[in-house]
Amino acid sequence: MSATLAGRGAIVSGSSRGIGRAVAERLAAEGAGVVVNGMDKKAVDDTVATITSAGGAAVGYVGDVTADGFAEEFVATAVREFGSLDIVVNNAGFPWDNVIQKTTDEQWDTMLDTHLKAPFRILRAAQPILRDQAKNDEKRGRYVHRKVVNVSSIAAIYGNVGQVGYASAKAGIFGLTKTLAKEWGRYRVNVNAVAFGIIDTRLISSVTEGHTIPVGDREIPIGVNDAVLDHIVQTVPLGRFGTVTEAAGSIYLFCCPDSDYVTGEILTCGGGVTI
Ligand SMILES: NC(=O)c1ccc[n+]([C@@H]2O[C@H](COP(=O)([O-])OP(=O)(O)OC[C@H]3O[C@@H](n4cnc5c(N)ncnc54)[C@H](O)[C@@H]3O)[C@@H](O)[C@H]2O)c1
Repeated sequence: MSATLAGRGAIVSGSSRGIGRAVAERLAAEGAGVVVNGMDKKAVDDTVATITSAGGAAVGYVGDVTADGFAEEFVATAVREFGSLDIVVNNAGFPWDNVIQKTTDEQWDTMLDTHLKAPFRILRAAQPILRDQAKNDEKRGRYVHRKVVNVSSIAAIYGNVGQVGYASAKAGIFGLTKTLAKEWGRYRVNVNAVAFGIIDTRLISSVTEGHTIPVGDREIPIGVNDAVLDHIVQTVPLGRFGTVTEAAGSIYLFCCPDSDYVTGEILTCGGGVTI
């Protein structure tokens, strides 16, 4: 096992599946202790078991990122379990799509709460910890760059029909990223974002597979029409969708020490797609 992140404590929201799970596995493989989060206990437990059986360190924290009190306990878990909070990956989310005239207030609020307010709350809760850790580093004369990576989408950069709430929230994360890059430079915290193109997870599974996401007491269908997928893949210069391992690699770039002088950036990981 390599150890570019040995001794680091990491939290990855929405890491029980898909891109977040691949991120948790990658960070743990690089030596970080990872707090794995998701709404489904079975999937969280499975991710933790996969990491620990490979020799990594992980604990589960089941919960909805939009719940009151979630953020405070999420960040505290990293400190309690791994001794520090060094990496924050805001990844949890899903699209709840519709054209603007059919988008309800509930849909809009759910998108903004999940993709923008939740990362804001997590980072607000992390601030005193990051500040105090930076002060302790100064006392010891041992300087560490800590990392925040916010997950966005090409829908935020280029817009996407039917994603007014999702794209607006995912664009809002750019302002959060660039502002905190300025506020937290003095703590040596690098704050960057990755905007994904099409990555092969259940979010882009065929609608016929019938995947759903719980919102309150309802299940929201997720997935894409097969004909739409066939069309989209033809617009990707690399000619295919990305894998979760490739997606996690782009987040790892912002977590590893090689990016210690990179902050406030938005990296697109989408095989060159520009629509
Ligand atoms: N897959 C893509 O093509 C793609 C493209 C652009 C952006 N994204 C973004 O990447 C992120 C991960 O998506 P994915 O494709 O891996 O999806 P996924 O459905 O495979 O995984 C999503 C994870 O987030 C968790 N989650 C969702 N809502 C949550 C909530 N309210 N509280 C806690 N956990 C929650 C799920 O439990 C799961 O662990 C999302 O923010 C998504 O919008 C994905």
